[in-house]
Amino acid sequence: TEPFTVAIDGPAAAGKGTISKAVAERFGFAHLDTGLLYRAVGAKMLLGVEPIEAAQTLKAEDLQAPDLRSAEVAEAASKVAVIPEVRAALVDFQCAFARRAGGAVLDGRDIGTVICPEAEVKLFVTASPEVRAHRRYLELMAKGADTTEDAVLADVVARDARDRERATAPLRAAADAVFLDTSHMDIDSAVEAAARAIEAKR
Ligand code: C5P
Repeated sequence: TEPFTVAIDGPAAAGKGTISKAVAERFGFAHLDTGLLYRAVGAKMLLGVEPIEAAQTLKAEDLQAPDLRSAEVAEAASKVAVIPEVRAALVDFQCAFARRAGGAVLDGRDIGTVICPEAEVKLFVTASPEVRAHRRYLELMAKGADTTEDAVLADVVARDARDRERATAPLRAAADAVFLDTSHMDIDSAVEAAARAIEAKR
């Protein structure tokens, strides 16, 4: 089967991950959460590895590290993600994944703009900062984290600002992206809307 790339971008906790997983399963496509690449590099930096070196030597098993979902690692990820050499070191892996036979869904910040400008489908998933912080807060609480909704909102806003304002591959919707605002949508409706956008291009 031909390659078919679905690029899903947007800010933190907008629903990209859940939507990407669900549509990948529905259409039988492979899924890559590209945030994990930056999180893995961020986690190595926290262990004292120089970030560019960490990105250049990243291995598949580094993506399985147990603590990649923590707030500390998210923060570290958004710091290493501003370094052009870190981003450059992760391009080939992402491009190869995108063009694999049988279709691929990649979610991140710069998939439709930088990694896969030729993607057959581009979605830009958003939600208000308050809604995103609330969702992330519930996720963190479910994992037993000790935090407050205000603290999570401050983290989300700071991370978005860093992602939007960096010089290399900032968070931005591609000109031909379909916007999906999930602020007032439950997850099933968001998945349905994404699936319709994919169906329209198949
Ligand atoms: O999506 P996730 O929250 O796991 O991403 C963690 C951080 O990695 C983001 O805040 C962003 O700085 C960075 N990232 C990126 N480009 C991507 C995916 C993630 O810069 N394609």
